[in-house]
Amino acid sequence: MRIVLGVSGGIAAYKACSLLRSFSEDGHDVTVVPTAAALRFVGAPTWAALSGKPVSDDVWSQVHEVPHVRLGQQADLVVVAPATADLLAKAAHGIADDLLTNTLLTAHCPVVLAPAMHTEMWQHPATVANVATLRERGVHVMDPASGRLTGADSGPGRLPEPADIAAYCAPFLTGDPSDLRDLAGLHVLVTAGGTREPLDPVRYLGNRSSGKQGYALAAVAARRGAQVTLVSTVSTPAPPGCALVRVETALQLRDAVLAADADVVVMAAAVADFRPDHAATAKIKKTFDPATPDAAPIVQLVRNPDILAELLTRRGEGTAPVLVGFAAETGDEHGSVLDHARAKLARKPVDLLVANEVGDGVTFGQDDTTVHLLSGDGATPRDIGPADKTAVAHAVWDAVRDIRGTV
Ligand code: C5P
Repeated sequence: MRIVLGVSGGIAAYKACSLLRSFSEDGHDVTVVPTAAALRFVGAPTWAALSGKPVSDDVWSQVHEVPHVRLGQQADLVVVAPATADLLAKAAHGIADDLLTNTLLTAHCPVVLAPAMHTEMWQHPATVANVATLRERGVHVMDPASGRLTGADSGPGRLPEPADIAAYCAPFLTGDPSDLRDLAGLHVLVTAGGTREPLDPVRYLGNRSSGKQGYALAAVAARRGAQVTLVSTVSTPAPPGCALVRVETALQLRDAVLAADADVVVMAAAVADFRPDHAATAKIKKTFDPATPDAAPIVQLVRNPDILAELLTRRGEGTAPVLVGFAAETGDEHGSVLDHARAKLARKPVDLLVANEVGDGVTFGQDDTTVHLLSGDGATPRDIGPADKTAVAHAVWDAVRDIRGTV
């Protein structure tokens, strides 16, 4: 595939040489576009020798080939490593004063920016706002690594290791690029994992949800071009291209979901219906009541808000966001998994209900799952699987894409 490797002017520019090598060794066709400042750190002969192509930082070389437009238009992936605070600012504001910034404005393909700068610069409100703008636009801005910086200081701001940047880019470099971007322009929010409702500082009421399906949904949406917010209760790092919001309780998850202005909300998380009415501030002791040493405490539960029901009430008739609910069901003497899912859809009229069969060792924590997709329009359910959670995620996004055409 055709990769444009942008290099902006930071001391970490030398690390882009390893990234270039790894892309080339994987068989990709890499054009290096440094900025003038990058060339003060690593010279054009190095980039030319490693890429086997001429190297230019301005728009005045080979003008007859219109490189300032052609490079971006023809690329399958644009990666900028390192991306300095200056480069992020220019990209966020659409400034085009050299070959790299022109290329960023003409790229139709996924764009990955790997920032590197001092912690103060990364945390400055101007940079924070620029990164937020870029992510909102669907640009994949990696989080910088933490550690030793150029000087004696350390903190977030190090360029992620070249191997990590290459791994981040890998999903964009497989398959047919034309079918990877069908969710471009959509902001999707996915919840993942099971909520933990604290009893005291060390104990909680939880459930068996591993978050794997939610992570697969987020990863696939990012790969298909969506801007993804992943609201997660588990400690797994975010998949490439996803902004991660960590939460623990149903109330925190509700706040995160309601704060986002998403086009699609996929509630894959297992949200606890109840929580202890209060969490003890100190650990509850085994002999919590010295008067009756063998007694056990009684935990009073209160209802959690139903977030999906709240979203349904808020959005009114026929407007965004598209809402996707999950139903973890077991069949019983009253009906099959599908019967229970139909009843749930009648109670919670979401646009798409993903019903899956659960039980001991089935679905929770497993890689394969069987689901039934029930759309709100009453069409015949689609049965998916047994299939891995990535395949299920693709089927869910296919259905969302079709629903978006009608909502
Ligand atoms: O009605 P039930 O709880 O089975 O519906 C499950 C769906 O509702 C899931 O998508 C889950 O994420 C969501 N849910 C919620 N808030 C709750 C409980 C469930 O949004 N308190």
